[in-house]
Amino acid sequence: MSFSRLAIRPIVAASGSRRLATSAVVVKHKLPDLPYDYAALEPSISAKIMELHHSKHHQTYVNSLNEAEEKYAAALHAGDVTAQIALQPALKFHGGGHLNHSLFWENLAPKSSGGGTPPGGALAKAIDATWGDYGAFKKVVNASLAGIQGSGWSWLVKDKETGQLQVITLPNQDPVTGKYVPLLGIDAWEHAYYLQYQNRKAEYFGAIWDVINWKAAEGRFKV
Ligand SMILES: [Fe+2]
Repeated sequence: MSFSRLAIRPIVAASGSRRLATSAVVVKHKLPDLPYDYAALEPSISAKIMELHHSKHHQTYVNSLNEAEEKYAAALHAGDVTAQIALQPALKFHGGGHLNHSLFWENLAPKSSGGGTPPGGALAKAIDATWGDYGAFKKVVNASLAGIQGSGWSWLVKDKETGQLQVITLPNQDPVTGKYVPLLGIDAWEHAYYLQYQNRKAEYFGAIWDVINWKAAEGRFKV
């Protein structure tokens, strides 16, 4: 998925003169459909949480990202560097929220569609080589999730330079960028579990493994 949907294209002035102007065309982001029903991930994640998380929380990130990009396009067109810089936190937060949740939905699957089936192929070998076995890897991820203070995500990433796997945590909605490719992300925000698990977030971190779609992660690992 491309974060930057801002296209600058030249247009010929309507007056018919040969002078060229630039016009910023912002392509709006849309909430992606889920490839499963809201109730399909029960009992790991309740239908109510899925509905709110997708149709309300993610939709808000999409709306706010579109709004920020419109403002950014106007600032760019006006040559207003101060306004462009002032919009960076909003672009990072809402853009990250959109990217992260889009990945998250792909990384989940009902048990009937393979959710929870352990990883296979080259990714499974890389996990075993890095952490010993799948069980040890899950403990590392769960420890990283438990260590997140406030809101954030835990990620299994591939280092593009070395090809090595790593588990990292990022705060807020910071997206995975730079030398890392995100393979699997787990949302540790309270909105992801509180309605069902309340303060028992360790139960959520345990139950989510039953609906992880490793096929999606394997596909990203190959790229
Ligand atoms: Fe979330």
